[in-house]
Amino acid sequence: MSVQPAEAATEVAFPPGFVWGAATAAFQIEGSTTVDGRSPSVWDTFCRKPGAVVNGDTGEPAADHYRRYGEDVELMRALGLGAYRFSTAWPRIRPDAGEPDSRGLDFYDRLVDRLLAAGIAPWATLYHWDLPQTLEDNGGWANRDTAYRFAEYAETIVSRLGDRVASWTTLNEPWCAAILGYAQGIHAPGRTEPRAAVAAVHHLLLGHGLAMDVIRRHAPGSTAGLTLNLFPVVPADPGSAADLEAVRRIDGLQNRLFLDPVLRGAYPDDLVEDLAPFGLADHVRAGDLDVISAPLDLLGVNYYRGYQVTGTPREGTEPGGPAWIGAETVAFVTDDGLPRTESGWQVQPDGLTDILLRVHREYPAIPLYITENGAAYPDHEHGDGKVEDHDRVAFLDSHLRAAHAAIEDGVDLRGYFYWSLLDNFEWAEGYAKRFGIVHVDYETQRRTPKQSARWYSQVINHNGLG
Ligand code: FCB
Repeated sequence: MSVQPAEAATEVAFPPGFVWGAATAAFQIEGSTTVDGRSPSVWDTFCRKPGAVVNGDTGEPAADHYRRYGEDVELMRALGLGAYRFSTAWPRIRPDAGEPDSRGLDFYDRLVDRLLAAGIAPWATLYHWDLPQTLEDNGGWANRDTAYRFAEYAETIVSRLGDRVASWTTLNEPWCAAILGYAQGIHAPGRTEPRAAVAAVHHLLLGHGLAMDVIRRHAPGSTAGLTLNLFPVVPADPGSAADLEAVRRIDGLQNRLFLDPVLRGAYPDDLVEDLAPFGLADHVRAGDLDVISAPLDLLGVNYYRGYQVTGTPREGTEPGGPAWIGAETVAFVTDDGLPRTESGWQVQPDGLTDILLRVHREYPAIPLYITENGAAYPDHEHGDGKVEDHDRVAFLDSHLRAAHAAIEDGVDLRGYFYWSLLDNFEWAEGYAKRFGIVHVDYETQRRTPKQSARWYSQVINHNGLG
C-alpha cells in the first residue's frame, strides 16, 4: 500500500550512504528491571515518588524489549532500517556502579549480534539517563566522582562490544539530565537545586570527554560523538531589547552551554557570568576543558521544537523550558499559532533547518546526524492490525524535507534516526505518550507497525521522498 501525505510535492533525494535509522533508550523499552542482577537506577526511584510520573507508571513492563529483542530486530529488518540507536544500561553492566555483571553484558552482546546478522548497524549510546541509584545517593552528577565512575562503566561496555559496534555516542542530551533532573525536578533524580544542576552540567561533560578517550582506546576505528538536544530560540518581538536578552540567556542555557565547551573548548563568557552565582567556575579544574573538547567524529542533534521567548511575561505566556535560573524567570510565548503534537510541542519543521544551519555556520566543521526527531499523537489500534497515524506521517514528511533543505544549504548531515522505533515509557509522561512508528499494546506486548512505519520504510527504500 502506498501512503502519501496530501501535501507531498517535490521529489527529495538524500545523498548516497545517508543513514536511516530509529532510536530507543534502555529504560524506556527494556522492562525486566530487576532481573539478571540489574540494580535500581534513579528512574526506578523517581517513578516511586508520588506524582512524579503520570499514572504512577514505572519501567515495567515498558516494551518488554529485554525479552523480545529478537522480535524487535526482526521488525527493524522488515522495515529496512540501516541503523538502530539504542542505549546500554549502566545498572545492568555495573550494578550499583560496582563490579561488571556478565548477564547484563551478555544481553547487549546478543542484541548486537542479532542486529549485525540482520544487516543493521548498531549505534550505541552509553548514557540515556539511567544513573545507578547508589551513585545518586553519593551526590549523583553533582559529584565529580560520578564522571570517573562513568568512564569506568564505559570501559567495561566498550571493551566488550568495541569489536562489533562501529558507532558510539557518549551521552544523550546532557541538558535534560542536568537541568530537568537537578534544577527543575521534572526528571530523575527530581532535585530542584540550581547549584547542583550547574555542577551536573560540568561533570556530565567531563564524563563525556573521559568516555571519548575510552572509546578511542577500546574501539579504535569506530566513530564517536555526543548527542545534544538543540532548540532554535527566537524572540517574540525582534525589536524588543528584553526579548533579545531572553533569547541570549535561553539560547545560552539550552544550546551554547554544551556546544561551546565541546566544540570550542570554552564555556561562553556571558554564561560564565550568568552562572557565577551558581558556581560554574568552581567546578572547572585545569585540563577539564581539554578533556571535554576532545575531537569528535560526529555530533548528534536531537530536534523536537523551537522556543519563541519573551523577557516580558504577559497574558498568554508561561514560564517553562529552560527558565530555571534564579529568580530571572523568562516567559515563553505559548500562542505562536503553530500546530502542536500531543505533548503540546510546536510542530516547527523550519526550526530543524535553522538549528542545523546554525551549527554548520557557527562551529568548526563536524558531520551531523539527527539522532532523534519525532512526535507523540494519540494512536489507536482497534484490533484490526492497523494504526492510521496520518499526523505522524505528515510530521515525518515535513521534517525530512527540512533536513534535506539543510543539506541543500551545505550542511554535512549524514543520517536521520526517528524517535522512536516503539511506543515506550516517555519519562514523566509515563506510557501516556506514544512516539513509536510501531504500536505497542502494553497488555499483550503485541507490536503493530503503524502507517508511519510503512511510510518510513518506503522513504528508506527510495533514499528519499517522492
Ligand atoms: C528526548 C529523549 C527521548 C524521548 C524524546 C521524546 O528528549 O532523549 O528519550 O523521551 O525526548
